[in-house]
Amino acid sequence: MSISVVILAAGQGTRMKSTLPKVLHTISGKPMLFHAIDAARQISDDIVVVLYHQAERIQEQIETCYEGIRFHMQDAQQFPGTGGAMKGVHTKHSRTLILNGDMPLITKASLEALTSGNVAINMSVIALDDPSGYGRVIIEEDKVQEIVEQKDCTPQQLKVTTVNAGIYAVDTEVLERFIPNLDNNNAQKEYYLTDIVKMAVDEGLEVHPVTVPEEEFKGVNSKLDLAHAEEIMQRRIKKTLMMQGVIMRLPETIYIDCRAVFEGECILENGVSIQGASTLINAHIKTHSVVEDSHIENSDVGPVGRIRPGSRLIDTHIGNFVEVKKSTLTGVKAGHLAYIGDASIDEGSNIGAGVITCNYDGKNKYRTIIGKNVFVGSDTQLVAPVTIEDDVMIAAGTTVNKDVEQGDLAISRAPMKTVKNFFYKFFGADSCK
Ligand code: UD1
Ligand code: MG
Repeated sequence: MSISVVILAAGQGTRMKSTLPKVLHTISGKPMLFHAIDAARQISDDIVVVLYHQAERIQEQIETCYEGIRFHMQDAQQFPGTGGAMKGVHTKHSRTLILNGDMPLITKASLEALTSGNVAINMSVIALDDPSGYGRVIIEEDKVQEIVEQKDCTPQQLKVTTVNAGIYAVDTEVLERFIPNLDNNNAQKEYYLTDIVKMAVDEGLEVHPVTVPEEEFKGVNSKLDLAHAEEIMQRRIKKTLMMQGVIMRLPETIYIDCRAVFEGECILENGVSIQGASTLINAHIKTHSVVEDSHIENSDVGPVGRIRPGSRLIDTHIGNFVEVKKSTLTGVKAGHLAYIGDASIDEGSNIGAGVITCNYDGKNKYRTIIGKNVFVGSDTQLVAPVTIEDDVMIAAGTTVNKDVEQGDLAISRAPMKTVKNFFYKFFGADSCK
C-alpha cells in the first residue's frame, strides 16, 4: 500500500438543504463519507480527511467507527475551494489519491485503475451528454491541457462534454510543490485544485486522463442525488447477496442495510426491510416484515412482523403482527399479535395471540423472564419485572403481576356470569321479528 488518500469533505453542501452535514447523510445505513473511507482503506493505510463545516461533528462520528484516520482542518475563510482544502495537507507515501467525500459509490476497482501507472497526474474524466456544473477538460492533440471551471469557461469551452470527475492520483512531490503556488484569480475567487493540471502541463509533466464509470463518480449534492445513489447501492448489495445464495422475491421491493450479514440459505419475501447490522442465518423473512439490528437464526418472521434492535431469535417462529424488542427467544412460537419487549423466553414456550409484556412503567424498563415449556394463554399481560419458571400454564386473559413457580397454573379472571334473556329485555321482545 504505497499510496496515501486525501478525502475532501470540508464543503458546506448547501444544495442538500439540511442541517446534517452532507457527508453524514446515509446510503444503505452508512454515512456516505464512510463508504468513501471504506473504499480508501482497501488501497491505503494513510488516509487524511479534510474538514471545515461542522468539522467536530464529522470527526467525532468517524472516530467512533475507525482508527488511524488523520484529520486536516481547512482554513476555508482564507483559502476557500478544493485547492484551499489541500493547503497544508501532508501525506506519507510517494503518490496521493484525492477523493471527494460525497462519492459513496466509488469502488476499489476504479480506484485501482486511477492509481496504476506512474505519470505525474492521473485524472478522472467522464463524457457527459449534459456537462453543466462540471469543470471542462480541455484536450488538444490527445493531450490534456487544463481544466476550466464552468464559471470561467468561454462559450466555446462550455461546449466541451468531457468533464473532470474530481478525483486525481498525483505524485506527492509534484502536489506539495504546486499547492502553495495556487491563486484565486478566477470567477469564484476560490483556490482551484484543478489548476495543478495546467501547472503540470506547463512543466512538461504528463497528465493522463482515466475514463471512469459515471455511476460511481457522480457526486451526491442533493436529496435527489441521494435517492439515486441509494437505488444503485441497493441494487449492488442485493446482487451480491443473491449471488451468495440469498433468495429474494421481487428484489426491487426489498431494502437491505450494507452492514447486514447473511449465512446459510435465507429467504426474503417482497417488501422486507433489513436494517442496521443484522445477522440472518437460515432465516425466512416473510412479506412486509422489518428487522433492525438483530440476530435471526433458523427462524421465520412475518408476514408483517417487526423485530426491533437487540433481539435474538433462534429456532423460533414469529407470526403476523408480532413485535419483538431487545429480547432473546430460543425455540419459541409467537404466532399472532403480540408485543414482546425486554424478555427472554426459553425452549418449547408458546406465546398466545394478544400477549403483551408490560415492560415500561413510564419511567423505567423491566425484564420478563419465561422458562421452558410455558404456555402463555391469549390476551395475557405480563407486568414486568416478572419471572415465569419452567412448565407453567397461564390462562387466557390473565394479568401476571407475580412470579410463577415451576409446574403451576396462573389464572386471574373475574367469574363470568350470564343474565337470562337480557338481550330481549334490552332491545325489546319484538326485536328479533
Ligand atoms: C469540483 C471541480 C470540478 C469537477 C467537480 C466534480 C474544482 C475547482 N472543481 O467542482 O472541476 O468537475 O469537482 O465533482 O475542484 N471541498 C472542500 N473544501 C472546499 C470546497 C470543496 O473540502 O473549500 C470538497 C467538498 O466537500 C467536496 C469536494 O471538495 O467533497 C468537491 O467540491 P464541490 O464544491 O462539490 O466541487 P466543485 O468545486 O463544484
Ligand atoms: Mg464548489
